[in-house]
Amino acid sequence: MKASSYSAVQQQGYSASIFLRNKDKLEWTQQKCIAIFALLCCFAVLVALIFSSVDIWGDDEDGITEENCSRDCRIVLVENIPDDLSLHLDGRSHLPLSVGFHSLLDQAQHSIEVVSPVWELNSWDLDTIPNAAQQGELLFQRLLSLNSQGVRLKIASSLTNSTELKALAAHNAEVHFVNMTAFTRGGLHSSFWIVDRKHIYIGSADMDWRSLSKRKELGVVVYNCSCLALDLHRVFSFYWQLHERDYIPSIWSKRVTALYGKHDALELQLNATPATAYVSTSPELFCSKDRTRDVDAIYQVIQSAKTFIFISVTDYLPLVKRSFRGTAITRYWSSIDEVIREAVVLRGVRVRLLISFWKKTHPLTFNFVTSLKSLCMQLHNCSLEVRFFSHKEQKDDFQLGLNHNKYMVTDNAVYLGNHDWVGSDFAVNAGVGLVFKIKDNPKDRGVTVLEHIKAAFERDWRSRYAKSLQGSKDQGKYRHLQWPKNHREAKEKNEWNNPL
Ligand SMILES: *[C@@H]1O[C@H](CO)[C@@H](O)[C@H](O)[C@H]1NC(C)=O
Ligand SMILES: *[C@@H]1O[C@H](CO)[C@@H](O)[C@H](O)[C@H]1NC(C)=O
Ligand SMILES: *[C@@H]1O[C@H](CO)[C@@H](O)[C@H](O)[C@H]1NC(C)=O
Ligand SMILES: *[C@@H]1O[C@H](CO)[C@@H](O)[C@H](O)[C@H]1NC(C)=O
Ligand SMILES: *[C@@H]1O[C@H](CO)[C@@H](O)[C@H](O)[C@H]1NC(C)=O
Repeated sequence: MKASSYSAVQQQGYSASIFLRNKDKLEWTQQKCIAIFALLCCFAVLVALIFSSVDIWGDDEDGITEENCSRDCRIVLVENIPDDLSLHLDGRSHLPLSVGFHSLLDQAQHSIEVVSPVWELNSWDLDTIPNAAQQGELLFQRLLSLNSQGVRLKIASSLTNSTELKALAAHNAEVHFVNMTAFTRGGLHSSFWIVDRKHIYIGSADMDWRSLSKRKELGVVVYNCSCLALDLHRVFSFYWQLHERDYIPSIWSKRVTALYGKHDALELQLNATPATAYVSTSPELFCSKDRTRDVDAIYQVIQSAKTFIFISVTDYLPLVKRSFRGTAITRYWSSIDEVIREAVVLRGVRVRLLISFWKKTHPLTFNFVTSLKSLCMQLHNCSLEVRFFSHKEQKDDFQLGLNHNKYMVTDNAVYLGNHDWVGSDFAVNAGVGLVFKIKDNPKDRGVTVLEHIKAAFERDWRSRYAKSLQGSKDQGKYRHLQWPKNHREAKEKNEWNNPL
């Protein structure tokens, strides 16, 4: 008995010592593993740092820096007003959009950088509307001939199979593909030009023949403004860098961080009037260090308004559609709605909302704007008006007379963006915005661009195409606006602008 239990104990001791020895060995290998892993980590960080700080795109900033860039800028309002809209035009305050584009092409000496959600300057089968695409075709021909004039054309796009981009690439345009599907499942909806890192265009118009003939568009061209161009160029560089990537780098290059933002806006002269300006972007994933989000720029402009806020957008819809575990869910997106409510009710700011009424207007738009309007019920100093801009029955996809504007003007600032005010747009689509604020110094200033934009808004607001909805008792107005017959059907199918 004793002997056997003794040997059992011995055996146990033996296996314990083997276990300890193995444990020692195991710990040793673990330590080695940790050391190797740490080394690998260091190496990875080093590689990341090298790649992020070195200029791997071979893209310089033309020797212009934030210190010596130009802040003495000339800004011009550019608009496309379709022939078949009869609006009272004041020739002095705005330039036709096509003239604006051609003047930028005339200025170009080295480079033009373009971002546009669509490339359809040529219309391929347009027997129904003769000459509709003339301006678009002209612009396209000029873009094709840039290379022969020694001007580099660089384009960032999320389109995979565009005939026009292929044609431009065949004429030596450099086209970088941004795979938005991989990042947010949205689109690259930004729309801007940068010419020689000096002059810029931002606005609602795309590289689409409709923008130059049939749709109502509004934007600005800013000349001799390398400070602003430099900052917008950084947004472009960011898109440029995403070429054939399917992830956003976690460490940003200094070349894409923002120069100006809502807390440190660029101080500049706009037509000899002191002003501040900055560029905002969306979606949030695309906002590099210090870059202001579009939504925050809109907040800031609304919150700093003192007497009025005029908003002109194609669609207004405080909803966001997200995909959650494979199913799409729609949620209320209060971000912009709530700052408008605050301005109207708590600060007594007068708000006017001009929304387009067209075949893609979401049926719930009416419910949300009615809700906004009802805020002022029984309140003294409260004014919120909504009108719908509608031209003809929208047949086919020509978007005749569609108000495609996307801007807001207040008593002291302007926000011009690429997005409609729809939650999903800001969440998944890439866009840019330009904010400029005129300094309070009425003495030494003439008529500012802000007043031109305000006048353009009031012209549209008072036109025969802007119709108000008088509330539920006035159902007749609906018919007048040709509210889609398939209202309920559309709602059930939940077909709206940007199905994700
Ligand atoms: C601006 O400054 C940079 C560096 O400080 C210099 O290389 C460049 O030539 C300057 N550009 C102009 C237009 O003065
Ligand atoms: C690309 O466009 C061409 C011409 O429009 C068309 O024939 C072709 O089917 C398209 N390819 C894909 C993959 O969509
Ligand atoms: C874009 O990214 C998606 C998802 O990563 C991928 O499935 C698709 O093939 C990519 N498209 C192109 C044209 O590279
Ligand atoms: C830009 O500034 C230069 C020099 O001040 C001036 O000659 C030129 O006309 C300006 N360009 C535009 C488009 O205003
Ligand atoms: C309405 O509110 C504005 C801003 O607070 C104020 O300036 C104005 O005097 C108010 N008007 C009335 C009638 O109370």
